Amino acid sequence: MPTYLKGEKGARYQLGRTLGSGVSCKVKLAKDDNNNRFAVKIMSKDIDFAELMSAELETLRQCAHDNVIGLVESGKGTQENSKKGDKSVHYIVLELAQGGELFDFIALGGRFPEPVTRLYAKQLCQALSYMHKKGVCHRDLKPENLMLDANYNLKVADFGFAAPTVGRDGKGKLTTQLGTASYMAPEIHLGKPYEGPAVDVLATGIILFVMMTQRPPFSQASHDDPHYRLLIGKRGDLFWSAHEEAEGEDIYSKEFKSLFEGMLAFNPKERLTMDQVLAHPWFSGPTKTLSDIKADFDQRKTVVDQEAHNAREEKRAARAQRGEAKGKVRRGIKLGDPAVRAQLREQWGLLEVKDFDIRSATQFFSSA
Ligand SMILES: Nc1ncnc2c1ncn2[C@@H]1O[C@H](COP(=O)(O)OP(=O)(O)O)[C@@H](O)[C@H]1O
Ligand SMILES: [Mg+2]
Repeated sequence: MPTYLKGEKGARYQLGRTLGSGVSCKVKLAKDDNNNRFAVKIMSKDIDFAELMSAELETLRQCAHDNVIGLVESGKGTQENSKKGDKSVHYIVLELAQGGELFDFIALGGRFPEPVTRLYAKQLCQALSYMHKKGVCHRDLKPENLMLDANYNLKVADFGFAAPTVGRDGKGKLTTQLGTASYMAPEIHLGKPYEGPAVDVLATGIILFVMMTQRPPFSQASHDDPHYRLLIGKRGDLFWSAHEEAEGEDIYSKEFKSLFEGMLAFNPKERLTMDQVLAHPWFSGPTKTLSDIKADFDQRKTVVDQEAHNAREEKRAARAQRGEAKGKVRRGIKLGDPAVRAQLREQWGLLEVKDFDIRSATQFFSSA
């Protein structure tokens, strides 16, 4: 039996499978009465709405860009639930990103050739430059929050941590320590007041690296990290030779190395701005178009869908084995299954660097 989300003002959406879920919300596939499909982010009303959803809504309202997920509407309503009864909720209706998360295309489909990385880098940086000019920053950039639409256009999503670049007090700095550790800027790790756009640039640099390599450049951008320390100490030569060794070949162009180092600068004042990033010579290299990549990405999507299907089947089988009622196993899980992700992350973390390289280099600048 279909379940519905009914808005206070008469909107009505038929709910489908779960596309993703976070700590405090669920994102579901939704269809209106004209069969238009959307993604709807649903949050239980007993959770503090003001704090969690208002930043997201405020940002979405301000940003209308081809590469930013579109806001359709939002409101309060009732979610029908056949088992637990009706529930009062807050919801945000979003443009549906049919392709899914960029994360899965990389993790399951393999690293992107440089001209493909350049295509997505351009889309991502243009969206962020636009946002920064509008006076908002994202603060939780990572491949899990970058979605692809049906044509594999990139859409920046998840503005739950977004904030005005001038800070909540208008003084120009942000102070809340948040984000995802492996994409956080060093100034956030250090608990210092920070500028939002600079933090977004650093996370974007890591995303570019992940696209090119299918692995992260380091565990985190902090002094404790032996790989990031190489960059802090201006020993990019050692950083890149370590990665070349892990990769088995030198896949990083001279321009990419220079761009990445500029985006990852320890001192936010030395870090490139998003506009400087876009003006960097790396962007003048060969770039694929969406039609060039269609066949490759259709193939990647098949793999992603197959994995999601397998994960659903596994969960179904496990539940059946536990003897749960059939009706209970219908809710699909996605590739966001924590076990699947944990395994992928572990694989990504397999970066071997010769000890002596790291030690000699880190001693050299341990006071940086
Ligand atoms: N517009 C959308 N279209 C398709 N899937 C979406 C959309 N928005 C979110 N999702 C899915 O739901 C997941 C969680 O949504 P997100 O906005 O990132 O919330 P959270 O703050 O919980 O991470 C995403 O990672 C993605 O898989
Ligand atoms: Mg998210």
